[in-house]
Order: sequence, then C-alpha cells, then structure tokens
Amino acid sequence: MATVTADKAKVDELKAYIAEHKGIKGPLMPIIQKAQEIFGCLPIDVQDVIAEEMGIPMTDIYGVATFYSQFALEPKGEHVIGLCMGTACYVKNSQPILERLRKELGISEGATTPDGKYSLDATRCLGCCGLAPVMMIDDRVYGRLKPDDIPGILAEYK
Ligand code: FES
Repeated sequence: MATVTADKAKVDELKAYIAEHKGIKGPLMPIIQKAQEIFGCLPIDVQDVIAEEMGIPMTDIYGVATFYSQFALEPKGEHVIGLCMGTACYVKNSQPILERLRKELGISEGATTPDGKYSLDATRCLGCCGLAPVMMIDDRVYGRLKPDDIPGILAEYK
C-alpha cells in the first residue's frame, strides 16, 4: 500500500512550512496541524518527516498527535460520523446510541471500518444541544436520536 508520504509535493510543502516555522518558539502544534491539513492524517511516516526536519525525537510528535483528539493517526473513512458526548447529549442518552453505532459498524470510537467507508468519533458539544442527542455524518446533523434510528440512517450512506 502506498504511504501518504509517497506524494512528494505534499512532503515538500510540509518541509517548507517546517523550515519557515522551526525557529519560532513553540512551533510543534502549528506544524502538526499543518501536516494534518496537508495529508489529512498523521501516520508514522508523516511524524517521521516532522521529527527529521525539526531534529527532535519522534516520540515528542507522537505524544502530541495522540494527546489531542483533533489529530488522526490514520486516514479517515469516506464518511465521518461524530456522535456528541457533551453534557446535554449525554443526559439525553447518547451512550446507548454510541453502543448501537459500535455494534452496527463493528468498530469503536476513534476507528475506521476495514472497508474505509466510515470513521466513528465521540465528539464534544456540537452546538445544537436543543436537538440532543445529536450526531453528525459529514456535514449533516441528526437530532433527537434513538438507537433504533441508527440502521436506517447508516443505510442512507451505503
Ligand atoms: S451537548 Fe451535544 S450538541 Fe451540545
């Protein structure tokens, strides 16, 4: 399988960005953010490029990339499902919905189905608490969910 760093133009773009920013104090977050913007994710080979260009251990980058949920170590699926686990959604029973999503998709949050079709994320407040419990698939919002709604909604994305 080709790695994301097989795209030389993207690697060069990242290297140029690092060269510009590595002298600045605290450059790691913006550089990692830029890398994710360029490649869409931060697999080990991308972390390797950052470590080499910055002359720092890869564990430093891995630590940041795994600590913040905004960073993805693997490419995301074709459809990204974000189930809100914020307070309003949680008290309106988002947990059984998460369990149903796990069961229907056969994956846990943070993972992507083996066919690359869906990624499942548990998110913070999506800003539409009045519709709790809320889920987003790509740019579309689904509110007032019940676990039994899940199979029908997923079928729309088959
Ligand atoms: S807590 Fe879920 S949308 Fe706000």
